[in-house]
Amino acid sequence: MSSPWVRVDSLRKVFKDRKRGMVRAVDGISFEVHGGEIFALLGPNGAGKTTTLRILSTILRPTGGRAEVMGYDVVKNPQEVRKKIGYLPAEGGLYHRLTPREVVTFFGELAGMDRKTLKDRTEQLFESIGITDFADTKIEKLSTGMKQKVAIARTIIHDPDVLILDEPTQGLDVPSSRIVEQFILDEREKGKAIVLSTHIMEEAEYLADRIFVIHKGREKATGTIDQLKKTTGKNRLKEVFLSLLEA
Ligand SMILES: Nc1ncnc2c1ncn2[C@@H]1O[C@H](COP(=O)(O)OP(=O)(O)OP(=O)(O)O)[C@@H](O)[C@H]1O
Ligand SMILES: [Mg+2]
Repeated sequence: MSSPWVRVDSLRKVFKDRKRGMVRAVDGISFEVHGGEIFALLGPNGAGKTTTLRILSTILRPTGGRAEVMGYDVVKNPQEVRKKIGYLPAEGGLYHRLTPREVVTFFGELAGMDRKTLKDRTEQLFESIGITDFADTKIEKLSTGMKQKVAIARTIIHDPDVLILDEPTQGLDVPSSRIVEQFILDEREKGKAIVLSTHIMEEAEYLADRIFVIHKGREKATGTIDQLKKTTGKNRLKEVFLSLLEA
């Protein structure tokens, strides 16, 4: 088998919180993701999903263990890692005074795209994700779902190999989340590696090739939906999830 595009090994992150003391947000997890694969971190609120994705995106430094993207260590080679990834944060991160076109152009330029490629790709992305109608409206005037679409366009404008998506469909209505899900599946078809987080079992089932169930910073199980059903002896998705959390 080819070498993994994302490799996480015994990863740990401890936050020192004044009120709560030591918070073990990520407590020794390991996994690998290959090109052409959608890998879902599935866990309840506070499980450590966002923390893991922020470490992979070089925003947070791990307390222990290692994380690599395309062979580059997130601590030793953050610049190289950043070139390879598109990171969709869970919360906004958009400049409210700019328009979608300005934001996406800005990020494309930052990634070193040439003018023509950037312009063509922007048009094509805006059309396929459904941004064209409000491409020149200030972001502060957009709805939650519209902003989420812009955030996605910004994440992928430079056509990165590895997509790191923190709850990609949050805030989206059914038609919009369908568009985003289809987009994620298309990226997989192009051979990209996708690591996403969700707490929605159904979404993990629909999108993911493999699911990593995380709770209190630890791995509870990894596998396909069928494997998880077999492990737990349950059939209903909610029951599968709940019994894995209790395990
Ligand atoms: N900067 C921080 N300082 C202190 N504690 C933090 C910090 N960031 C996260 N945590 C804690 O780490 C734990 C994991 O948080 P994280 O955001 O990774 O969870 P999550 O799985 O993404 O949850 P959700 O589904 O609610 O988004 C939580 O207990 C959280 O309070
Ligand atoms: Mg989160």
